[in-house]
Amino acid sequence: LNIGVLVSGSGTNLQSIIDACANGTVKGRVACVISNKADAYALKRAEAAGIPAIHIDHTQFEGRRSYDAAVVEVLRRHGVELVALAGFMRIITQVLLDAFPMAVMNIHPALLPAFPGLHAQRQTLEYGAKLGGCTVHFVDAGTDTGPIILQAAVPVQDDDTEDTLAARILKEEHRLYPEAIRLFSEGKLKVEGRRVYVR
Ligand code: GRF
Repeated sequence: LNIGVLVSGSGTNLQSIIDACANGTVKGRVACVISNKADAYALKRAEAAGIPAIHIDHTQFEGRRSYDAAVVEVLRRHGVELVALAGFMRIITQVLLDAFPMAVMNIHPALLPAFPGLHAQRQTLEYGAKLGGCTVHFVDAGTDTGPIILQAAVPVQDDDTEDTLAARILKEEHRLYPEAIRLFSEGKLKVEGRRVYVR
C-alpha cells in the first residue's frame, strides 16, 4: 500500500506510521509526505527516513480547490492509494475527496462526535468530560464528521492541563493510526453508510 501523509506540524503521528511500515506491522510504505508549512518538523522526519518530503505553500494558491488539485497531482505522481491526514491544519475540499474516494483518513484528538475542530483537548477539559481520547475516521466534506474507523478513550484526571491530557491522548494516537491503516491495507474495513465494520 502506498500511503501519502499530509502534515503541518511536528509529525509524531507520521513517525508512528513510518515506524509501523518499517517494522512490517503495516504492509505498505509512506510514498510521500506533503506539508503546507515549510518549517514543519514532519518534513525532517520524512527526509530522515528517505521519503520524498514536499512543501506545497498554500499562500501561493487562489483557493482551497486549486491547492488541493496541486496536492492530488503530487500524490498521484507518487502512486498514492491511501491519504493519511496527520496534523494537517487545513480544510480539504471535494477535489481531494473525489480523487481518493473512501481513501482519505484523519486522526482527531477527541472522542467524536464530541469536540470536533480546533483545540479538541482543551474543549474536552473545559467541558468537564471524564473521558477524552482519539478517533480515526474516513474524511468526508465536513470537519471531523466522516465515518468512524477506530476510537480509544483515556481518563481525564483532576490535575490535567491541556498538555498532560494531550500527551496521554497522543500515546493512544500513535497506536491507533497505524492500526487503522493496517486494517485498511489488509482490506478489512467495510463501510456501510456511516458505519465501518472490521471484517
Ligand atoms: C495530533 O494531536 C492529531 O490528532 C491532531 O494534530 C496533532 C498532530 O500531532 N490532528 P503530530 O504532528 O502528529 O505530532
